[in-house]
Amino acid sequence: MESGVLKYGIIGVGMMGREHLVNLYHLRTEGVAVVAFADPHIPSQQLALQLAHSFTWPIKVFSGHQELLDSGLCDVLVVATPNMTHHRILMDIINHSKPHHVLVEKPLCTTVSHCKEVVDAARKRPDILVQVGLEYRYMPPVAKLLEIVKGGNLGRIRMVSIREHRFPFLVKVNNWNRFNINSGGTLVEKCCHFFDLMRLFVGANPVRVMASGAIDVNHKDEIYDGKVPDIIDNAYVIVEFDNGSRGMLDLCMFAEGSKNEQEISVVGDIGKGEAFVPESVVRFGTREGRNDIQTIKAKDQRIKYAGLHHGSSYLEHLNFLSAIRGKGEKAPSVDLQDGLVSVAMGVAAQLSIEYGRFVSIDEVMNELRV
Ligand SMILES: NC(=O)c1ccc[n+]([C@@H]2O[C@H](COP(=O)([O-])OP(=O)(O)OC[C@H]3O[C@@H](n4cnc5c(N)ncnc54)[C@H](O)[C@@H]3O)[C@@H](O)[C@H]2O)c1
Repeated sequence: MESGVLKYGIIGVGMMGREHLVNLYHLRTEGVAVVAFADPHIPSQQLALQLAHSFTWPIKVFSGHQELLDSGLCDVLVVATPNMTHHRILMDIINHSKPHHVLVEKPLCTTVSHCKEVVDAARKRPDILVQVGLEYRYMPPVAKLLEIVKGGNLGRIRMVSIREHRFPFLVKVNNWNRFNINSGGTLVEKCCHFFDLMRLFVGANPVRVMASGAIDVNHKDEIYDGKVPDIIDNAYVIVEFDNGSRGMLDLCMFAEGSKNEQEISVVGDIGKGEAFVPESVVRFGTREGRNDIQTIKAKDQRIKYAGLHHGSSYLEHLNFLSAIRGKGEKAPSVDLQDGLVSVAMGVAAQLSIEYGRFVSIDEVMNELRV
């Protein structure tokens, strides 16, 4: 392999790990190559190997992450294993004698205490960059709306409302995503993306969270080892931020009859903006009224592979690469603190449903009740 090439390893080559593999292939001209995988599941290994062979990338396959780490083959690792495994794998990577930069899929971990352990361990390894896979911020319409907000065109943002109406959770290897204990719960597992976006749009941190949700339609006729799934399939979540702004999430996972999967509305004191995914449309206007509204189609010419997430995985890798090439001078654009807070908001929302009351972020950060 030519020198100067950054060697990547992928830990977990299920659906998302293979998605990373294809994205990295489209980044090969940037001087990256995948050289190793670790995954104990033979069908996942085989599917990933087929892809790698079609890219003519020679790959070393391991059944566990420790062997991959000890091989010393990689400079950068992508962790795309089930959520409940992120903590152990990250701790082993961070504590390994060889430094490996790491992009870990969301959620950072399934509990606040595990996230905090990772944050503390990483603090002692300034030679390692850790980026968290909160990639929705890179989706072109979302990025465009963020740019409009940051440009001050809407004034001070007071309300952010995010609607995700989509299909149910997909089937995963060994059905890990059917149970809260493995995924962290729906509001951690997938909604960490939206809590991260809310923080970006309002430019503030969350104070307290109130949620209502249940498992009402999906997975009720499924049984795994004698147990019925416990993951909620719909919820409303209200978040209050420390600058007085408010966020609201409207999640429904039996809403295939929806034109867009995500609809984001951001309202400031002088204007309103909206983003629609996958339509990739952004609209914004002022309080002058409807005649003043602009509609644009959001595109990012840098995207060479759109994949499953409208190009956001490609841009996330591009960003991480530039942080790595900045040789530590540049921090990853989605850091461990972003990963931790987005999990804390999800945990607070899950607990709010259970307790039937507002749950403060302090409570979950200090684990007063968890
Ligand atoms: N960014 C996004 O929007 C997005 C989308 C989908 C999934 N994800 C995340 O990606 C991760 C993987 O999800 P997926 O959909 O690919 O699941 P998956 O079930 O399709 O794949 C997981 C793979 O990890 C392997 N694995 C399990 N334990 C392992 C271990 N200890 N070491 C190595 N491999 C191990 C499994 O055998 C499987 O092949 C999850 O954290 C999920 O939340 C993120």
